[in-house]
Amino acid sequence: MKILISGGAGYIGSTVASACLDAGITPVILDSLVTGRREFTEGRPFYQGDIADGPLVDRVFAEHPEIEAVVHCAALIVVPDSVGDPLGYYRANVAKSLDFVGHLIRNGCQKMIFSSSGSIYLPGEDFSVDEDSGIAPQSPYARTKAVCEGMFADIAATQPIRILSLRYFNPIGADPRMRTGLQLRRPSHALGKLIEAHEEGVPFRITGTDWPTRDGSGIRDYVHVWDLATAHVAALRRFEAALGGARSSVINLGTGTGTTVTELVTAFNSVVDTPVAVVGTGPRPGDVAGAFTRSGRAGRLLGWEPQFGIVEGIRDSLRWAEIRDRLLAP
Ligand SMILES: NC(=O)c1ccc[n+]([C@@H]2O[C@H](COP(=O)([O-])OP(=O)(O)OC[C@H]3O[C@@H](n4cnc5c(N)ncnc54)[C@H](O)[C@@H]3O)[C@@H](O)[C@H]2O)c1
Repeated sequence: MKILISGGAGYIGSTVASACLDAGITPVILDSLVTGRREFTEGRPFYQGDIADGPLVDRVFAEHPEIEAVVHCAALIVVPDSVGDPLGYYRANVAKSLDFVGHLIRNGCQKMIFSSSGSIYLPGEDFSVDEDSGIAPQSPYARTKAVCEGMFADIAATQPIRILSLRYFNPIGADPRMRTGLQLRRPSHALGKLIEAHEEGVPFRITGTDWPTRDGSGIRDYVHVWDLATAHVAALRRFEAALGGARSSVINLGTGTGTTVTELVTAFNSVVDTPVAVVGTGPRPGDVAGAFTRSGRAGRLLGWEPQFGIVEGIRDSLRWAEIRDRLLAP
């Protein structure tokens, strides 16, 4: 099987590409490198350019007519940036995705998997959600994902393409073989900040200590990025079953366990030699209390269960942070 991965030079897309290669699926990469890394495309067919560039997408399909499906990961993803630049985020994530899906249909592509997000949910009182939970995105970024899902469902309803949205919860870790990981030296999510605090020997700032969670810190469902990647392989292989006869559908990808930021710090300190101290501060723009999945749909429809726990995710993130600077040009 040959597939196209938009955003395949990014953190998740490049890991999906590695999992595909390991499973005997050939990935072709389309990425503008706006945040992705050329190093992550090495040895993989790679087209540098924009998903909205119709002639480029036509060229990809002309040169790889065997492409059977597309994994659409390309997007801008920084929540506080989306608060400051909603126009830029809707343009990048919604308008360009609309153009892209049009280019795919024109090229006869009938299957698409879309990188959506668990951050679109309105969490219930215990912060657990399943695919039937209410949708209430709390930031422009999250809303771009919800808008795309709705737009894709409308398109798939009458056009010759079927679309499966995978709602990722909070990816951590790196490819266990260390081919790829987070491209940023200073990632802005909690584990990234925790690694930074550990490296610099300064306290870690828990941003938000008044959420109605068991300890006041935000709650997340940390899922190892390799588990996310293998879920895509399963979704490609079982695309028909995953849709269950529908033209479009959604599946949550998380571990099913909620971990608060304070619990993340405890897990982190169980892995490192020198424990990190913490201080509490207010939330950042666009921050939310968080959610975790309680759904068994991925297990039932994809035959997928996460293989790694939070400690493996932390260990692989730390291993990657150590080698990242040697693998990536400054
Ligand atoms: N990282 C997370 O916490 C998370 C959680 C849920 C969902 N997601 C979704 O997963 C997907 C991948 O996220 P990621 O963490 O790998 O981010 P990333 O920034 O590492 O990867 C995104 C990739 O898309 C590319 N890209 C962006 N706009 C493009 C365009 N117009 N044309 C071509 N390429 C373009 C970037 O260069 C980059 O390589 C995104 O759609 C994101 O919304 C991520």
